[in-house]
Amino acid sequence: MFVTLEGTEGSGKTTQCQMLRQHLVEKGHDVLLTREPGGTKIGQQVREVLFDQRNHDMTPEAEFLLFSASRAQLVRDVIKPHLTKGGVVVCDRYFDSSLAYQGYGHGLGHDVLREVTRIATGGLRPNLTLLLDLPPEEGLRRRRRQRDQWNRLDAHQLSFHSRVRQGFLELARDEPDRWEVIDASQSTEHIFRSVRELVEELQSSLYK
Ligand code: TYD
Repeated sequence: MFVTLEGTEGSGKTTQCQMLRQHLVEKGHDVLLTREPGGTKIGQQVREVLFDQRNHDMTPEAEFLLFSASRAQLVRDVIKPHLTKGGVVVCDRYFDSSLAYQGYGHGLGHDVLREVTRIATGGLRPNLTLLLDLPPEEGLRRRRRQRDQWNRLDAHQLSFHSRVRQGFLELARDEPDRWEVIDASQSTEHIFRSVRELVEELQSSLYK
């Protein structure tokens, strides 16, 4: 079972991923929690290039290809082997982030993004994608409070983050069987209750 969490900055995905991992481990699953970009040695190095404040002149195309490079390594080295041995994979962001940020946010063409993504992932898609939806004003306010986590990619205009949010919502509307949208302005506990219920529903449909 492969579950991904998506959302704009400060939506609380990372906390929910950790809570979900803990919950699934307690239920006896072999759980791998990973994140994009990163999750492998090469992915970690790519992450540093992507987030380095000095790289402010990086083009959206270069950005997308670097995210895809990190993704290709993660899928082959980590995600696929874990799924093959029957484990559960929870991933903090996956290719939908590229469609939302580099596609809707930066205006790169969706056909090209999808084609490169197919190569990077070998066509591997999540069984379930949870969108933690939050107005970008609120997300950025939360992020600024945690100042050490502020990175090059957070510095975009609010209009950029609004396009990304609308992009996620559109992706979710286009593929309702894979996506579930959760209101991320609720408390952490409320959000987690929804996350848990949706994952349990998926498990009962997969393993019935
Ligand atoms: P990160 O520090 O991992 O934090 P969070 O996921 O909590 O926001 O930041 C990841 C950043 O990279 C975020 O700004 C979204 C961006 N991103 C893309 O633009 N495209 C992608 O394909 C991925 C995976 C992430």
